[in-house]
Amino acid sequence: MEIDIRKAAQLKEKPTNVAGLGFGKAFTDHMFIMEYDAGVGWHDARIQPYSKLEIDPASAVLHYAQEIFEGLKAYRTAQNEVLLFRPQDNAARLNISARRMVMPEIDPAFNVEAMKKLVDLERDWVPRAEGTSLYLRPTMIADGAELGVHASKRYLYYIICAATGMYYTKGFAPIRIYVEDNYVRAVRGGVGGAKTGGNYAASLRASEEALEKGYNQVLWLDAVERKYVQEVGAMNMMFLLGDTVCTAPVDGSILDGITRRSILQLVKDMGYKVEERPISIDELYAAGESGMLKEAFGTGTAAIITPVSEFCYKGRCLVLNGGKIGALTQKLYDTLTGIQRGDLADPYGWTVRV
Ligand code: PLP
Ligand code: COI
Repeated sequence: MEIDIRKAAQLKEKPTNVAGLGFGKAFTDHMFIMEYDAGVGWHDARIQPYSKLEIDPASAVLHYAQEIFEGLKAYRTAQNEVLLFRPQDNAARLNISARRMVMPEIDPAFNVEAMKKLVDLERDWVPRAEGTSLYLRPTMIADGAELGVHASKRYLYYIICAATGMYYTKGFAPIRIYVEDNYVRAVRGGVGGAKTGGNYAASLRASEEALEKGYNQVLWLDAVERKYVQEVGAMNMMFLLGDTVCTAPVDGSILDGITRRSILQLVKDMGYKVEERPISIDELYAAGESGMLKEAFGTGTAAIITPVSEFCYKGRCLVLNGGKIGALTQKLYDTLTGIQRGDLADPYGWTVRV
């Protein structure tokens, strides 16, 4: 399919201080969009000026939340090149989410081409300052206008981009996490493994209550035994236990994070042991008290690597590494962002030049 390009007549003013902007606010001049109709397939692929969508008030997405999305970033190198980080992985994961939510798949090669064409057109928006990037948000919504509960026959797929600073307001700094023992996010067999909006809507109440208690994010426990750690609102979690990096397994209840995959590869290559296995909150607290639990950090596209200084579970606080950023967390942040920003060699073939 050809991608038609319709350029904006007038361009927006670009932000001067992207680092101070926070996450996902300064949207660029253009968006990619295409439509799907049952029996026809995807059609009318185009890049057009960024604009509001016109959808029917009866659209399935508005009533039954048939929606999926992705998140990836483009970086500007010191040589002024623009790199996307593992876009093929995002294209593949979008299709996994699509299957779970009974939505149409998109040819991954075409999807990556759409991302590259859009970023190429918006390359002046890709910032260079430390901690900044151009965030891409591929999104698919069901816009068939029928109120019966069934998979829609019409869909929209679009990609928008935002010049972005760090996800957490304090940048690369430790956050405090509340271990949630009341609400749950996902159950095995549910949609926790899909990147679908409902998972995030379901998390808001717990996040609000954690914020009120002075915590930045919630760590979810499994919904059955309320015992095993899953993931945090917008990132996977990793724990350095002795010389082993441990993380929850991808069992359908957490997102199969692309940063998670990248970090597991990096730590293996740095000589650490890796365990993807159920980790109970009691094991973590015991390891924290014995000194075995040395570091904890989150991984995600928006969150990059986020150090965790403290957990609170049932009123008990566990402070890690004296509240400071751990040496491995720092090294992983430097290595990952170095590869992403083109400052370090990429022996893995993760970066894709636009
Ligand atoms: N878990 C959740 C719930 C997320 O929203 C994200 C962010 O995308 C992640 C984990 C990390 O995934 P990735 O590294 O692919 O961005
Ligand atoms: C991402 O890291 O890309 C995410 O989607 C997390 C979030 C902001 C929902």
